[in-house]
Amino acid sequence: MERTYIMVKPDGVERGLVGEILKRFEAKGYQLTALELMHPTKEHLEEHYCDLKEKKFFPGLIQYMLSGPVVGMVWTGKEAVKTGRKLLGETNPLASLPGSIRGDFAIDVGRNICHGSDTPENAEKEIALWFPRGVKTLKREKGIDALI
Ligand code: TYD
Repeated sequence: MERTYIMVKPDGVERGLVGEILKRFEAKGYQLTALELMHPTKEHLEEHYCDLKEKKFFPGLIQYMLSGPVVGMVWTGKEAVKTGRKLLGETNPLASLPGSIRGDFAIDVGRNICHGSDTPENAEKEIALWFPRGVKTLKREKGIDALI
């Protein structure tokens, strides 16, 4: 079963959107597999965003990500990575359709509330980075399994 790493960024936590984001993934049918409020270091965030380190916006991105706690989560289920990104919306909130999280709650690319892994391979890397002690996926009851 596929897993994805979803993170509520500091602006999402500050604005009280953690419950809303949890609600949308739960309602869709994904299984909550890990959840933690964290205060990542600069080095940890630079590792998470290492593919972007040459970008002009990188220093501002790291500064924003250090502005408060984040909530990291792992969700499990069919096509969790691709569908997770659909639930989040486009990177630029102005390009995100209403109905998506960014489409409903954001207007700035530099304050886009949430992160979602972009490939299953990156999801596994990010899960290992953010939950280094490991993540346990419990088997669901039969009736609930039918939903996913
Ligand atoms: P990226 O990995 O391209 O997007 P996504 O988060 O949708 O996978 O970029 C990472 C974050 O960097 C993005 O969520 C917001 C920020 N960012 C900017 O601040 N300015 C930009 O022009 C871009 C493309 C991203």
